[in-house]
Amino acid sequence: MAVRGSTIAGIGRGIPPRVLTNKEMERMVDTSDEWIQTRTGIRERRIAAPEVAASDLACEAAAEALADAGVLADELDLIVVGTATPDMLFPATACLVQDRLGARRAGAFDASAACSSWAYGVAVGHAAIASGRAETVMVIGTEVLSRITDWSDRATSVLFGDAAAAVILRPCQTGEGFLAFHLGADGAGASLIELPAGGSRRPPGHETVAARMHYLKMNGREVYKFAVRAIPRAIERVVEEAGLTVADVDCFVPHQANVRIIEAAAERLRQPMERFFVNADRYGNTSSASVPVALYEAVEQGRIRPGSLVVFVAFGAGLTWGAGAIRWTGDSALARRWGSSTP
Ligand code: UT7
Repeated sequence: MAVRGSTIAGIGRGIPPRVLTNKEMERMVDTSDEWIQTRTGIRERRIAAPEVAASDLACEAAAEALADAGVLADELDLIVVGTATPDMLFPATACLVQDRLGARRAGAFDASAACSSWAYGVAVGHAAIASGRAETVMVIGTEVLSRITDWSDRATSVLFGDAAAAVILRPCQTGEGFLAFHLGADGAGASLIELPAGGSRRPPGHETVAARMHYLKMNGREVYKFAVRAIPRAIERVVEEAGLTVADVDCFVPHQANVRIIEAAAERLRQPMERFFVNADRYGNTSSASVPVALYEAVEQGRIRPGSLVVFVAFGAGLTWGAGAIRWTGDSALARRWGSSTP
């Protein structure tokens, strides 16, 4: 039982300016704008400049989130960075971010649950605040997936993009802010999405590079089937845990892997698509950054206002999934700007 609640008091994002359209992809691999749009709903994605790493996008998002919350970096007690594309295997990208921000008091570590990393990080950050171990926590999702994308593989290269987003968590009354979490994993599906080489199982070498094993591999069809089952199940579990029903939810913020997956999940839940926030068309799948970037834009567009019941849900490699229910408090400047009236 939580002794106090926590809420999102600030939010920020770091989006690379370079847009890569489907038309440009047609010149890179044997694909078409029509195939990509009908199978995924994606129209374009962002690609980081060659010198930009995950920590750079993370710091951009962090600076905006701190300003939005009106919090100074040295007030942070904990920094959690969710990423599948860290600057290096170690040290943690969170430590690089901590140093660059000057967050001297903060502990820092990376959460590795692929596309669910930010959701896992937020659950940990909430627990730290609810238990009294922390007052102010920053959770970031940041990815430069373009570095692990095989640009000669049409089955995966059209899907992914680069982005980051950060949230600041602060204490609030129970019954507001985060109401419930549901986290899950099924390691039996580990081989469905993997980056085979570069770790201790298959250290990097000429052979692994020649076999293109340093790039992301995915069994798209099986992951699709998993996602269509996992999203409704996770949403139902988290809503039930919060003592509410699916019909009470004002805005669903799902992982933006494929618009068809979101449509199939909405149909299974018998909920209209208008209640699901979608921005996959402009970013593609940005893994751990996907849900917080979508959350940012849902607030910016007034789809989430103070008092809204929001449910986010992520899924990805592992296999992993993570969902959270939030009674939006509108504590951030961004939320106050856009959410002057209750829904
Ligand atoms: O965050 C990680 C989670 N990842 C996901 O959520 C991904 C889940 N999976 C998916 O979203 C879909 O399975 C994909 C978008 C990856 C693929 O869509 P699909 O409708 O399942 O297509 P498919 O894999 O069944 O392929 C259908 C056809 C194949 O050709 P044949 O064998 O029917 O002749 C593919 O070779 O489409 C072909 N294809 C393409 N054609 C044009 C695959 N990729 C492309 C492409 N352009 N980019």
